[in-house]
Amino acid sequence: MIKPTIPGLNIGDITIPVPIIQGGMGVGISGAGLASAVANEGGIGVISAVGLGLNEPDFKTHFKEANKRALQKEIRKAREKTSGLIGVNIMVALSDYDNLIEGAVEENADFLFLGAGLPLKFSEAFPPERLRSMSTKVIPIVSSAKAAKVIFNFWEKRFQHIPDGVVVEGPLAGGHLGFKPEQIDDPAHALEKLVPEVVTELQPYEQAFGKQLPVFAGGGLYTGQDIFNIMQLGARGVQMGTRFVATDECDADIRFKQAYIQSEKKDVTIIQSPVGLPGRAIRNQFLDDVSAGIKTPFQCPWKCLRTCDFQEAPYCIAVALTQAKDGHLQNGFAFAGANVWRIKEIVPVRTLMNTLIAEYQEAAQARHPANHVYSR
Ligand SMILES: Cc1cc2nc3c(=O)[nH]c(=O)nc-3n(C[C@H](O)[C@H](O)[C@H](O)COP(=O)(O)O)c2cc1C
Repeated sequence: MIKPTIPGLNIGDITIPVPIIQGGMGVGISGAGLASAVANEGGIGVISAVGLGLNEPDFKTHFKEANKRALQKEIRKAREKTSGLIGVNIMVALSDYDNLIEGAVEENADFLFLGAGLPLKFSEAFPPERLRSMSTKVIPIVSSAKAAKVIFNFWEKRFQHIPDGVVVEGPLAGGHLGFKPEQIDDPAHALEKLVPEVVTELQPYEQAFGKQLPVFAGGGLYTGQDIFNIMQLGARGVQMGTRFVATDECDADIRFKQAYIQSEKKDVTIIQSPVGLPGRAIRNQFLDDVSAGIKTPFQCPWKCLRTCDFQEAPYCIAVALTQAKDGHLQNGFAFAGANVWRIKEIVPVRTLMNTLIAEYQEAAQARHPANHVYSR
């Protein structure tokens, strides 16, 4: 059957049939269930490596080993359900970042998406020759052309090698944001502005290394028309998070998904997370209590995030997000993108992907009537 699609692309030896990355969503929201469903539709399904070890018996005593083991189990679980593309999202700020990278590469993840910090250092297990030869592709997540430049410049000098592309995440995204609070509404930092800047920044590296460096754009993208528009500005694909939460296959509890459906525009808010970054979330009683100065005392035996000021933090972000993911929203809150309030129903991933593709097609035809794109 001929199926209309969005133009795919290759990264090295990997073919991406539909250039939609399902963004990694921490503490088990994007696990094997969601990632494999997206991969089965031709996109890149991404497992977030944050906090997966919580259910392992030795989490409290050996949290690094527990997290790595749990991540590897999750990748294997996804592989059982799909032969499509599976990536792993790892926050650079995690204190067990090195172990998680090792876990993902050992399992031959197709991609590593490295965000929440600049991926400049790798453990001794990853000397430059291993970075250059491994089949797993590395895609940093950045919020500016400057950050992309710092990463590529450093890699070129240190590893004589560069990453395989970039995700640019704009200020309308859900979750932690790589912007200062005053930059969030500043048009100078809008995604439409960032994408061409990053594309231009990478061009000299494409020439020097003789490889294409696709830029994927994310943050607030909602329709296939949005995908078309941002690709007209130079993106080769997109990363989307919020829309994938409201799917049957998303690994969060139904009450987490319902918080999305029930949200109104006025509920979408920016918080200052204990991690030291702003984040976008859906306002609820828990967050109102935090704003009112009410603290949820906690003990932190493992310090999962290097940047967390846990002695001053009013609550534990890992616990709050996990409670919300499990449906206990009275004990936590839901991260979400700026357009969450537009979501009205929970649909299968296949329906969402087909809708986005059809909307993209409509937008492409309206712009270029002769340019009908089909996959075969
Ligand atoms: C609930 C939730 C959790 C997220 N967790 C992470 C994470 O652990 N690591 C990360 O790099 N990005 C995280 N993100 C960002 C997404 O991967 C994605 O880039 C972003 O959601 C894109 O914007 P959109 O939600 O408007 O589509 C999260 C987003 C949401 C909504």
